[in-house]
Amino acid sequence: MPDKPAFYVTTPIYYVNDVPHIGHAYSTVGADALARFKRMDGYEVYFLTGTDEHGQKIAKTAQEEGVTPLQLADRVVERFKEAWVKLGITYDRFIRTTDEDHRKTAQAFFMKVREAGYIYKGQYEGWYCLPDEKFLLDSEVEDGPNGTKTCPDCGRPVERVKEENYFFAMSKFQKQLEKYLEDHPEFLQPESRKNELINNFIKPGLADVSITRSTVKWGIPAPVPEETVIYVWFDALINYISAIGWPDGEKFKKFWPADVHIIGKDILRFHTTIWPTMLMAAGVSLPKKVFGTGYINKDGKKMSKSLGNVVDPFELAATYGPDALRYYLLREIAFGLDGNYTDEAFQTRFNGDLANDLGNLVSRSLTMLEKYFDGIIPQVSFEGDLESRLVITARPYAGLARKYMDNLEFHNALIKAWDLIKAANKYIDQTAPYKIAKEGDAGKEKLATVMYSLMESLRVTALSIAPFMPFTATSIWKQLGYADDVHKHSLAETEEWGKIPVGQKIAKGQALFPRIEKKK
Ligand code: MSP
Repeated sequence: MPDKPAFYVTTPIYYVNDVPHIGHAYSTVGADALARFKRMDGYEVYFLTGTDEHGQKIAKTAQEEGVTPLQLADRVVERFKEAWVKLGITYDRFIRTTDEDHRKTAQAFFMKVREAGYIYKGQYEGWYCLPDEKFLLDSEVEDGPNGTKTCPDCGRPVERVKEENYFFAMSKFQKQLEKYLEDHPEFLQPESRKNELINNFIKPGLADVSITRSTVKWGIPAPVPEETVIYVWFDALINYISAIGWPDGEKFKKFWPADVHIIGKDILRFHTTIWPTMLMAAGVSLPKKVFGTGYINKDGKKMSKSLGNVVDPFELAATYGPDALRYYLLREIAFGLDGNYTDEAFQTRFNGDLANDLGNLVSRSLTMLEKYFDGIIPQVSFEGDLESRLVITARPYAGLARKYMDNLEFHNALIKAWDLIKAANKYIDQTAPYKIAKEGDAGKEKLATVMYSLMESLRVTALSIAPFMPFTATSIWKQLGYADDVHKHSLAETEEWGKIPVGQKIAKGQALFPRIEKKK
């Protein structure tokens, strides 16, 4: 067997000062759908997520809570891990920046860049945005109330910092980065954010970055004579390669460069300036793509702890099921754009797409099969026009979905998967099996054809939705009478028709998405 092609996808690593909300779940659910899709399409996937545990912000939160930073991290990490189990996230590694291998790699990487001549000592004087863990130049901060200065991105007050630090000579990579972006138009996605980044932050000139913090204690000790720690972003970005064993681990050789870093748009700048130039300085190849998602907003503002408008993924999953949340996140908002969360929109999607379209299709079809054929998949003897319409709808899915998934257009892949669900519902209305059943023996053959075609539609649907709604896919698969794991099957099987075994006994279960009464 030839080796499977490798596919490496990452999420941001989340700060442990906050418990997960659905804004955090957004990137992770997207990365999981992509990882699952690629696995089903024959790739060997490595899917990395984790937590960002160092820095002043975490130290401050821990202090406020009267615990050590590590105690805080240990506690919050459990919440993230629980959330990911609940949402069916199939990561291969959950990296913590406090992991021993990461610490060593971050130090080795620092040394490598230093040996290459791109790290020098200097005096940093400027502004620091603590919530964003970001250095800001005098020219970047904005005027706040009472003579204060604020962060241009998050709007919160910044503090003045004066430190003896080490700097990374990012400015040396100006030309190289510009050329790279020109030669690799697919590197920075989505397209809509590219010009802004290039024109506002790259073309005007890359400034050198302070990469140590001499006044901060909580971090990875920098490999320099002075007692100082590595700046949290320099440390954090390295996670993408430390997790797979840079510089010479087997996984690193297999999976690097990453196929895509999925991140939120607020950190796109770090990922398309500091990160690629750090890699250039260390002589490491660059990731193939960095994709910045939009925000999940609530009441028109970015969902965040500080604004107090967060929606708890545990609560939503408990009320509607984990797949309803996954579906909402992936279907409601195009991945690159901002989107608003409202209970109303969530419930509309739930009752419409999930309860009416998918849930009803599964339940009506299986109920009829039980009633007319004792739940046994019947032999089919002919195929008519209506059946061909189902086949014609099912067959192009894989090809289209491949294209959509490569562009992280999850909503479009789902719209396509729903074409078959809708066509199958229409097919029931048009063929009216309940009427054919009344014809007795005369209609038996036709009835068998209709029921078989419906079971095939369900089989293909289970496979097509498996990356997005893994629990539902498993349930449909089981209800269809399969004993094995739907997630071990391939995308290519959606292109075949006539695969569900004649004689297989279905096992109808509970309704997948019972309609909900809308809350006022
Ligand atoms: N620790 C850094 C990332 C380091 S990656 C090497 C960080 N952490 S964070 O916890 O503040 O944010 C993590 C990710 O969650 C970011 O990509 C951010 O955009 C995303 N989101 C946080 N709130 C969000 C929404 N309301 N909506 C969408 N994504 C959001 O930044």
